[in-house]
Parts: sequence; structure tokens; C-alpha cells
Amino acid sequence: MKVLGIESSCDETAAALVEDARHVRGDAVWSQIALHAEYGGVVPELASRAHIVHLVPVIERALAQAGATLDDVDAIAVTRGPGLVGALLVGLQAAKALAFARGLPLVGVNHLEGHLAAIYLENDAPPDPDRPHLALLVSGGHSELVVVERPGGPYRVLGATRDDAAGEAFDKVGKMLGLGYPAGPVIDRLAATGDPRAIAFPRAMRRHKLDFSFSGMKTAVAQHLAAAGIPTGPALADLCASFQAAVLDQLVTKTEAALDETGLDTLIVAGGVASNRGLREALAAVCARRRVRLCIPPPRFCTDNAAMIACAGTFHLRRGERADLTLNAIASLPL
Ligand code: KG4
Ligand code: ZN
Repeated sequence: MKVLGIESSCDETAAALVEDARHVRGDAVWSQIALHAEYGGVVPELASRAHIVHLVPVIERALAQAGATLDDVDAIAVTRGPGLVGALLVGLQAAKALAFARGLPLVGVNHLEGHLAAIYLENDAPPDPDRPHLALLVSGGHSELVVVERPGGPYRVLGATRDDAAGEAFDKVGKMLGLGYPAGPVIDRLAATGDPRAIAFPRAMRRHKLDFSFSGMKTAVAQHLAAAGIPTGPALADLCASFQAAVLDQLVTKTEAALDETGLDTLIVAGGVASNRGLREALAAVCARRRVRLCIPPPRFCTDNAAMIACAGTFHLRRGERADLTLNAIASLPL
């Protein structure tokens, strides 16, 4: 089954054609990063307006890359939330119009389960779809520990952030340091050359076992900068390494606690922050020690894309699930 995925929940306009929830035949992303960069974050109205300009050309590009036309599409999967309402509506309306005009089945997908499904894309050894696994979902909007009973759900959320998401913490600290938006990849790169022990930022929130909190770290960085000024050169790398170490310490500690609690033997990591090199290395070491199987998608499937939406949508379509043409956006759709 070839499913056309459409994603427009935030600042990437994306379309992809995915066969059998696995083979990515065409995958196009129009990133709005440059558009929002000067504001240091996503401006919702600008995002919606960019989606409406770029979505149809992006769909054309994905189909062309696949050597396909709309005649080859068997169904349409579209992100219905969570995300910016105005942004989501653009993708939804395009998906509904296509489904109506071509008489195709339509399914609405939760963006977060798209991130979780990305592990099945172009992967010769994905997690067993018939057995539950643990997922650490870390993106710009979410930080959650989730038990995936099966791809496409049900999902059981074990813990979530009490304030900022992990990616948001990277982005906010990056903004304070003047590193541009999104700052996660820049901090990741700088951290690789710095000393993670240079500055002692606050560590994991011990009280709430499987919940995260990152706002304390952000405040600690702000206080440090107020006292010491904005560093440059090696001192900047040290600060990035120290901040990243504090974030990773929390992510890894809580993930280990969730592995203890569930006894699951497979861990997947999903979302934009899953492309962080330090996180990948730290979790690789933990999983090797615990004999837990670790699966992380390649970076291009960690950040927002439509292949993951087509993939998650396929799992729903296989169960016979269909949306009708009243499908609507839900800004804070839970997993
Ligand atoms: O999943 P995603 O593309 O969008 C959301 O659904 O939020 O995640 C984007 C987030 C941004 O906050 C970005 O700074 C962060 O992922 N990110 C990273 C890295 N690459 C992207 N954070 C840390 N290290 C990275 N290498
Ligand atoms: Zn995302």
C-alpha cells in the first residue's frame, strides 16, 4: 500500500510517499527555518502562510521523486495535531481535498505517533511490531517516556515534561547565547569540543520519577550568563558541553528508571533531539550495559518529516480506520 503523508504541524512543510509503512519512495521537506530565524522561534501566522504557498509544490516534489503520480497513491495520511492550528489546517485541507477529488481513504495521524513510527522507515531490523517497546520521545514540543504497545497504538505515557520540552530548552539556551534558531544542532556541535564538567548545572529532578523538567536548567544558564557574560571560543564550547551534559543526564536517568519499571528490552528514541550525538552515545552505552536493544532513526527521520506520518497512518489504515471529510485539527492532541 502506497500512502501519501502530509505534515504541516509546525515549521516544516512536508510530503512523502511511503510503501508498506517502510519504503520511502519520495520524501520532500520545505524547511521554514530561515523564515523564522530572525524571530528566534516559530511565528504561527508566518508558518501558516508559508505552508499554503509551499505545500502543493512539496507534494509534487515528493511524487516526482518517487516517479509516481496521484494515480499511484492508495491512501492519504495527514497530521491532525498536536501543533499550531493554522499550520495544521493547511495540511488537513489539502489532504481532504485530495481524498475527496480522488476518492481515496483518508486517515488523521497524531504527530507524536509519527515520530514514534519513524523507526520503521527504511529499517531492516526494526522493533518487533507485535511486542511492546519503550520510547523516549524528545522534540521541540515534547519530552515523554512512552510504552508503545503496538505501532499505531495503544500508547501508555509513563512520564512527560512539567515545563519546557528538551528541544525547547536547547533552543532557549541557544537564543541566550546568540546561536540562532533552532540551536539544538549548534549546541550539539559545540558541546563535542567542550568540557562537560566546566560548569555544574542542576541535574535530574529526583522527586517526580519519570517526569522531566528543564526550566531550572534554563534559569541556571541565564543566571550564569548574567554573572559571567556571554562566552566565546573554548569557554562557549565548555558552557554548551556543561548544559548538554545536564540535559542528557536527566534524559538518561529517567529512561533508565523507565526501563527498570517496565522491564522492556527494546528502547527507541524519537523526535528532533534524538539526532543529538551526545544523547545517542550515552544511550548506546546504557543499553549495551543493560542488554537492551536500542533503535534510533537516522537524523533525517528524527526531525519533522512526512514519511513518519505516512508510516503511522499505514498502521491505522491496516486496521481499517478511516477519517471522514469532517476531520479537524486538534492543537493539543494527546498521544
Ligand atoms: O521533532 P522536531 O523536528 O520538531 C518538533 O516536533 O518539535 O524537533 C525539533 C527540535 C528543536 O528544538 C531542535 O533544536 C532540536 O529538535 N534538535 C536538537 C538536535 N537536532 C534538532 N537538539 C539537540 N541536538 C541536536 N542535534
Ligand atoms: Zn515533531
